[in-house]
Amino acid sequence: MAGKSRVLISVGKTNCAEDVAKSLGDIAEVEYVSGDYAAQRSGAHAVIVGGERVDDAYLAVAPQLRIVARFGVGYDAVDVAACTRRRIYVGHTPEVLSGAVADLTWALILGWMRHLPAGDQYTRTEWHKRTPFPFGWDLAGKTLGILGLGRIGAEVAKRGYGFGLRMLYSDVIGRPDMETAYQMRRVDFETLLRESDILTVHVPLQDTATKLLDAAAFRKMKRSALVVNTSRGGVIDQAALAAALTDGVIAGAALDVFEKEPIPPDAPLLKAPHLLVMPHAASATWETRRRMAERCVENVRACLEGRRPPFAVPEQRECTF
Ligand code: DGY
Repeated sequence: MAGKSRVLISVGKTNCAEDVAKSLGDIAEVEYVSGDYAAQRSGAHAVIVGGERVDDAYLAVAPQLRIVARFGVGYDAVDVAACTRRRIYVGHTPEVLSGAVADLTWALILGWMRHLPAGDQYTRTEWHKRTPFPFGWDLAGKTLGILGLGRIGAEVAKRGYGFGLRMLYSDVIGRPDMETAYQMRRVDFETLLRESDILTVHVPLQDTATKLLDAAAFRKMKRSALVVNTSRGGVIDQAALAAALTDGVIAGAALDVFEKEPIPPDAPLLKAPHLLVMPHAASATWETRRRMAERCVENVRACLEGRRPPFAVPEQRECTF
């Protein structure tokens, strides 16, 4: 390839992108893009992308593209088959964010169980009036149900062990090592729904997982149950969740992810009671975002130097382009 390669970054400068630019500077010109950057794609050899849809239409105007490096572990917004047909690698950033996502999962669980947002407000404006502050709930003795015991689900379980919870999980792959080390039990999906006091979702958004938690699923759960989601909004039927919260079918939800992001301020879900929300920030820590940026750089550099990206997605395990 004559001259330097061109790399586009659409994830915003705060994501350690300055460092990305510096560390790729010897082989590439790096440009930050936002909005619709179709025009810039015509000369791009690599893109580092956030949550935007990468499909045939996206790729059609990027004839020189050799890698789509997803800034994150989930790549449901990237049409991997369309990339593979064009001999374009898809990279992602597994492992480095599992701890941060598990931490935020627990922040949501504890925040909901102990009324943290309300407590902050109460302390500032109500406490001096001596109005009562509602009790929360203990974690010890409750049943935690983990839907998906992959890298992130496993980190959630490790942290849960210390809280003295009974832990169940449901996954297509069994993890006898985790069962022994953290006294967990593998159960089927129905049992997980029925027995969980806290159900936390850690599955990727595949066809089989889309709206996996729907009205029928909520009806099988305990009325006292809390649903937590730090994976993808599409795993939950958002309208059904709003109805389940409003009608008291389940007790609450704590969410970092939504069907459409950013969630519109007038979305009916935001009017539902007993809901704690965060703006898809589970991986948003300084250390984790830096490690994610490093993984993106490793993927891009390898590809542009004619090597296989070290963190190509599993569907491209057998591919060398
Ligand atoms: C991921 O890694 O997929 C997170 O959701 C951040 O995008």
